[in-house]
Amino acid sequence: MIKQEKSWEKRLSGSVDELAVDFVESLSYDKRLYKYDIAGSIAHAEMLAEQKIITKTEAADIKKGLLEIGEEIAAGKFAFDKLQEDIHMAIEAALVAKIGDAGQKLHTGRSRNDQVATDIRLWMRDEIEILLARITQLQIAFVRQADKYTEDIMPTYTHLQRAQPATIASYLLSFVEMLARDYSRLKDCRDRLNVCPLGCGAVAGSTLPLDREMTAKNLGFRDIKYNSIDAVSDRDFCAEFIFCCSLISAHLSRLAEDWILYTSSEFSFIKTDDAYCTSSSMMPQKRNPDMLELIRGKTGTVYGALVAMLTILKAQPSTYNRDLQEDKIHVFNAADTTDACLQMTAAIVSHTAFNTKRIADGLDEGFLDATALAEYLVRKGIPFRQAHGVVGGLVALCETEGKKKLGQLTIEQFKAACDKIEEDVFGTLDPAGVCRSYKTKGAAGPENAKAQIAYWKDKLKEQ
Ligand code: ARG
Repeated sequence: MIKQEKSWEKRLSGSVDELAVDFVESLSYDKRLYKYDIAGSIAHAEMLAEQKIITKTEAADIKKGLLEIGEEIAAGKFAFDKLQEDIHMAIEAALVAKIGDAGQKLHTGRSRNDQVATDIRLWMRDEIEILLARITQLQIAFVRQADKYTEDIMPTYTHLQRAQPATIASYLLSFVEMLARDYSRLKDCRDRLNVCPLGCGAVAGSTLPLDREMTAKNLGFRDIKYNSIDAVSDRDFCAEFIFCCSLISAHLSRLAEDWILYTSSEFSFIKTDDAYCTSSSMMPQKRNPDMLELIRGKTGTVYGALVAMLTILKAQPSTYNRDLQEDKIHVFNAADTTDACLQMTAAIVSHTAFNTKRIADGLDEGFLDATALAEYLVRKGIPFRQAHGVVGGLVALCETEGKKKLGQLTIEQFKAACDKIEEDVFGTLDPAGVCRSYKTKGAAGPENAKAQIAYWKDKLKEQ
């Protein structure tokens, strides 16, 4: 048992159990909020002075003391004491120790409830800026790679079965599109969370004339929160942020899954620099894509954080409850994991080469030109459903005759299947030719790929 030394010792009597001290503390992880806690406190003190609730000198002393504490923490010279529970109490106690009475006035009209809600929002605004920059870096890496492969054709897969031919560039650009959605989702999330709960106090506000607009403006918020009861326990933005991270993780995981397959001997589509591979402790020949596997695996960490966050929110009575302290564990975990994965993916994308020769040599597998042949028949006036049947029959014929591709059939065989087929059919039958003749907007041919690359190069410059 240890002697209780907390600010509410007048209310609670006796000693506290060390087990309870360890259980209740959040200082071990919320200390990373210290910069934001100090910024929020300075804004609050300046507002108190402006409203003549404290003097200008007291506000100046508070500010000076807080800035010194900030420097001590940054320099690793601050003695954190878990008896202080969290970063808010730790900083306030240090301030009182440093400047005395004026420090005792800082918490006027404020509760840790509105304080922590403000701190997380301030932290998250910055964190989102970092993640947005990481997304941009990754998009740039994809576009640079795409630029190298605008004329090279690869198979696409649906159901992991060969489908239609596409340029490698178009395949790479598909991830740029996914990341663009992630980018705008995070921006929306940032905009929605950028409202200030400071001044809502514990739950119902204060009888003191606090100027909430002033603190909100000084902290760079676009508005204040208008209902104090909601403000102190609203963590929707935490769930939303982790959801944004979850979809980023889903996209990175899908890329990882593709590339793990593509590095296998069975595919051999790509080769990533040794720096991003590991070997086996037993099998000397191995070159394992562990980084990609970890990117895929860490998706579980981020999804776990989302489920945890949503579960924390569920069935809490109005308004603030200590359950909410757990929010930061999951928000930080999701942010750090997503950040690390975005960086690692950008490095891998930049250090991977496509094995274009091997991919080109295998293009005759899988009848990638079958859909284009059906569309050739459509141009000859055959209804698509019938054309689909004719080509299906021709593919089956190839298989029974041991022919790998439709182009190996004779004109007689084509004509027997459909008399509308002419000699010009052979001009439409090869994956590269098919790819070049895609007409639709957004299609996976070289022309579209080049246009998209130009678009993204421009767009990413401003992003
Ligand atoms: N450490 C707490 C949290 O993260 C701060 C708020 C505590 N408020 C309270 N009334 N006990 O949520």
